[in-house]
Amino acid sequence: MRWPQTKLVTALVAVAFTTASPGHSDIQYPMSAATQCSLPGFVSNLSSDAEVYLPGSAQFDRFSERWSNLETPIVNITILPATDDVVKIVGAADKCNIPFLAYNGLHGSITTLGRMDWGIAINLRKLSGVTIAADGQTATIAGGTNSKVVIDELWAAGKQTVTGTCECVSYLGPALGGGHGWLQGHYGLMADQFVSLNIVLADGTLQTIDANSDLWWAMKGAGHNFGIVTSATIKIYPRTLTNWAIETLMFTGDKVKALYQAANDHLLRNGTQPADLINWSYWFNLPEVDPNNPIIAFYIIQEGVSVVDPAYTHPFRALSPLSATPNNGSYLDLARWVGISLDAPPCQNTGTANPRFPLYLPAYNATAQQEAYALFASATNASESSPFANSLFMFEGYPTQGVRGVSSASTAYAFRGRDNNLLVAPLVQYMPTDAARDREAAELGNRLRGILQGGSGRAEMHAYVNYAYGDEDLEGWYGHERWRRERLGKLKRKYDHRGRFSFYAPVV
Ligand SMILES: Cc1cc2nc3c(=O)[nH]c(=O)nc-3n(C[C@H](O)[C@H](O)[C@H](O)COP(=O)(O)OP(=O)(O)OC[C@H]3O[C@@H](n4cnc5c(N)ncnc54)[C@H](O)[C@@H]3O)c2cc1C
Ligand SMILES: *[C@@H]1O[C@H](CO)[C@@H](O)[C@H](O)[C@H]1NC(C)=O
Ligand SMILES: *[C@@H]1O[C@H](CO)[C@@H](O)[C@H](O)[C@H]1NC(C)=O
Ligand SMILES: *[C@@H]1O[C@H](CO)[C@@H](O)[C@H](O)[C@H]1NC(C)=O
Ligand SMILES: *[C@@H]1O[C@H](CO)[C@@H](O)[C@H](O)[C@H]1NC(C)=O
Ligand SMILES: *[C@@H]1O[C@H](CO)[C@@H](O)[C@H](O)[C@H]1NC(C)=O
Ligand SMILES: *[C@@H]1O[C@H](CO)[C@@H](O)[C@H](O)[C@H]1NC(C)=O
Ligand SMILES: *[C@@H]1O[C@H](CO)[C@@H](O)[C@H](O)[C@H]1NC(C)=O
Repeated sequence: MRWPQTKLVTALVAVAFTTASPGHSDIQYPMSAATQCSLPGFVSNLSSDAEVYLPGSAQFDRFSERWSNLETPIVNITILPATDDVVKIVGAADKCNIPFLAYNGLHGSITTLGRMDWGIAINLRKLSGVTIAADGQTATIAGGTNSKVVIDELWAAGKQTVTGTCECVSYLGPALGGGHGWLQGHYGLMADQFVSLNIVLADGTLQTIDANSDLWWAMKGAGHNFGIVTSATIKIYPRTLTNWAIETLMFTGDKVKALYQAANDHLLRNGTQPADLINWSYWFNLPEVDPNNPIIAFYIIQEGVSVVDPAYTHPFRALSPLSATPNNGSYLDLARWVGISLDAPPCQNTGTANPRFPLYLPAYNATAQQEAYALFASATNASESSPFANSLFMFEGYPTQGVRGVSSASTAYAFRGRDNNLLVAPLVQYMPTDAARDREAAELGNRLRGILQGGSGRAEMHAYVNYAYGDEDLEGWYGHERWRRERLGKLKRKYDHRGRFSFYAPVV
């Protein structure tokens, strides 16, 4: 149900009159701003396709529901803009000093989002679509397009590109922070595919930017900080190899050390693993199999074959897994195989808090893996009804050739080297109860991450911003070279000096 215009206007007037909020008294509005900030003009200015929802409506609730229920933003109104409306909303919100935030796949979980305590949700879901250029070299993805839509539409046209692996995240949410995906071994990160972006800046102007803009560098890794992308034109590629194979091996926890030693020796190979090979593993409780310890699911995925090369699987089969299950299919099956398709648990919003504590690693330290496993097992013990029993420890070994093929200095995404071959993260899942539980979860996540970081011998933390918990420092999100933070700070002052886009991993 859409709110009748009159009711809306009244409600907006109510929102508007609090805009001269304490803490912003330094900003002086001209007399006419009172009228403008009462917003009726602004709302009637929205296109007839825009939708507006207020608290109390089912749609407001539905569009506010996030994947992770921890430090969530608070908003007073949800607007679903149609094409030109983003400009109008951002422009008016900027003038009236009303906080706003882009809502896309709603899988963003960084705790900095909780700093938003009122304002406007700009939900981009109506901006959805994929348009392939006549020459077949690029596609234009509307700002609110879901990852699965991009994958399917390109596939149907015989094309592919790098997208997030999970079907329910948006295309742009991951891409603006770099963006990992199955095909990054060939083509690089998602952001490496950008050709041009239509972006609404903090002042409410819509600009088309490309490699000639000073903002270009920042959009590839810190893009959430600079505007709302209403569409992205990206490189696409012919779909050449259509078949993929997977082998899923399940292990009991006593194999942890041998398993990750084998992963280093036979798969990771100091970062020289083939671009067509991916392997992930998860630790999680599966009480039917082992009520007292998490099991290890180890996935080896290979492109262009119908059976994973036995040279890769043999060393792991030799470790006596509980099971070893081969499967084969197409690119479209990958998400389902590893449990991140639209119908899989990570795509349902169940009210749980889902903080992750990410870390890039050069390789596995089998001893540290074993230590982390022991802590994870005792802290998530299903037999003892741990509140964290549904947690998941994720180990993502994407191929990295395409990522390293792009110069590190050319993007704000900072972690392209061989010392970032692996992306690991405990996901401490629990039903939120109180602040004490939140603290306990954060402490557990940080201890688990700390063990693996300690095992790497590296003092610096490298943390993927899109998985970040929120307590990492700026260096951890955006790189340890000083020039990176200076450059980000300078661009922030130039393009968003009032910090309108500062709820998601702010660069300053
Ligand atoms: C199950 C799961 C699987 C994941 N898989 C991957 C993966 O394969 N690869 C990967 O790299 N990451 C992955 N991630 C992490 C993912 O990148 C982040 O969670 C990301 O923030 C999700 O974006 P969203 O649009 O779904 O979330 P939202 O919360 O809607 O958006 C996150 C933030 O991005 C910004 N934003 C979104 N859209 C725009 C836009 N058009 N313009 C400007 N700003 C925008 C907003 O600031 C917003 O706060 C995964 C996360 C989950 C939970
Ligand atoms: C916005 O919503 C919050 C939480 O519901 C509420 O406390 C606050 O008063 C609202 N602000 C305005 C301006 O309506
Ligand atoms: C309405 O939108 C136009 C641009 O489409 C803009 O110039 C004008 O200022 C807007 N009016 C209000 C009240 O926001
Ligand atoms: C990896 O690097 C180590 C140390 O440099 C070396 O001893 C080992 O042989 C390398 N392994 C592979 C598979 O290249
Ligand atoms: C591929 O999978 C199908 C079932 O989806 C199966 O019938 C077939 O045997 C598999 N092929 C190989 C080579 O494993
Ligand atoms: C989990 O709890 C059970 C029951 O108390 C216990 O026997 C088992 O050793 C515990 N597992 C771990 C890893 O602590
Ligand atoms: C799996 O293999 C890939 C490619 O060889 C490697 O990068 C990665 O580290 C391995 N990952 C895991 C989780 O074993
Ligand atoms: C592996 O981690 C352990 C501690 O978990 C540490 O003592 C050891 O030095 C690490 N090994 C290497 C090669 O860094």
